[in-house]
Amino acid sequence: MKFFIDTADIKEIRTAYDMGCVDGVTTNPSLLAKAGRGLEETIREICSIVDGPVSAECVSEKADELVKEGRGLAKIHKNVVVKVPMGVEGMKAVKTLTAEGIKTNVTLCFSANQALLAAKAGATYISPFVGRLDDISQDGMELIAHILEIYQNYDFQTQVLVASVRNPVHVLQSARMGAHVATLPFNVIAQLANHPLTDAGIKKFLADWEKVPKAAKP
Ligand code: E4P
Repeated sequence: MKFFIDTADIKEIRTAYDMGCVDGVTTNPSLLAKAGRGLEETIREICSIVDGPVSAECVSEKADELVKEGRGLAKIHKNVVVKVPMGVEGMKAVKTLTAEGIKTNVTLCFSANQALLAAKAGATYISPFVGRLDDISQDGMELIAHILEIYQNYDFQTQVLVASVRNPVHVLQSARMGAHVATLPFNVIAQLANHPLTDAGIKKFLADWEKVPKAAKP
């Protein structure tokens, strides 16, 4: 399974990339607003750090405007993936962008039928938002299972990019189900590395090392 990092924070991207676990990056307008920097300069900098797919989101609402915006985003760097919101206008734009060889990531997916539409339109990635479904007492991970089943039934090439990930259980379940990608906030990546028995083990080994006779320095 590939890991993308879900952030526009350059420091977080550098740290996670240095850990060797980042295959790509996803951004959205909220993450850019949080980082406090413009889209183009941020995407350029991210692409200079990570050699993998970097999603940049369109904010237009009509298909022709989405296509125009998507073409502009794709020109920023060869690794840019154009993020298009699910919907009738969005799917029209995905069809056109795909025909032009531009990679797309259909965002704000909350149902298997939406994922089916995105695959038929030729999307490179579909982003089902599991955390936001959990937030309204629906089962986000059940949606991932349904989409994977449908895509396998018909051999769709669209990759399932698990989004709105909130915790390590989402990551574990995504990997067990065979999701292609999960995009993780930095705090979830850090949580994956942690275990209380690891911390206790390090503490004990360091304490015991103090009791080991050391050779005198020449
Ligand atoms: C990723 O592409 C999405 O924009 C992101 O995962 C949304 O996460 P959130 O629901 O935590 O905002």
